[in-house]
Amino acid sequence: MYVIANERRQDADEIETLLDRAFGADRHAKTSYRLREGVAPIDALCFTGRADGVLKATIRYWPVSIAGQEALLLGPLAIEPAERGKGYGVALMWHSLAAARALGHRLVILVGDPEYYERFGFRRAVAERLVLPGPVEARRFLGLELAPGAARGLKGAVEKSRSDLAYRRTA
Ligand SMILES: CC(C)(COP(=O)(O)OP(=O)(O)OC[C@H]1O[C@@H](n2cnc3c(N)ncnc32)[C@H](O)[C@@H]1OP(=O)(O)O)[C@@H](O)C(=O)NCCC(=O)NCCS
Repeated sequence: MYVIANERRQDADEIETLLDRAFGADRHAKTSYRLREGVAPIDALCFTGRADGVLKATIRYWPVSIAGQEALLLGPLAIEPAERGKGYGVALMWHSLAAARALGHRLVILVGDPEYYERFGFRRAVAERLVLPGPVEARRFLGLELAPGAARGLKGAVEKSRSDLAYRRTA
């Protein structure tokens, strides 16, 4: 059975290994990582997917700041290579987006394949006037308004959030 749960501290090493397998060990050179360096992910939005107790999938979200407005950077999302196409990714996406909406987050951005992410409502137009701190293929830079109009009039640089401490687990 496939079970989605909040990421625990002891999952960290397994997740790093899965991410290396999914994206390659040079993944830290990607532009998205410029926004993650030294910033904690949002614990309440980091989930694992396990089948019979074995890690198969991971999703994380990072806080970012755009023209003074807080937003979420989705990713990485990765599924164990041998387990793709079973719906694990879609399940993690819907689960985490519902959690983000419930927590009052208004805007999510990501760098990924539009052919995959459009099914969740991500659109190029939402991120069109935003600028990431490094090169990305423009068509892959997407956004989703969790609150209608959250990105209206929004433009400028996407920066590291300075409020990440607020999202850290205290226990
Ligand atoms: C992309 C990824 C997260 C998808 O997860 P998954 O569990 O294999 O996908 P699911 O089984 O939930 O969804 C399957 C559907 O997504 C589609 N899909 C999977 N990867 C896709 C891609 N890269 N582009 C477009 N569609 C994709 C499948 O065709 C299938 O479509 P259908 O439902 O219309 O038949 C997974 O393949 C993965 O980890 N890839 C490597 C890392 C990566 O690219 N992560 C995403 C950041 S860009």
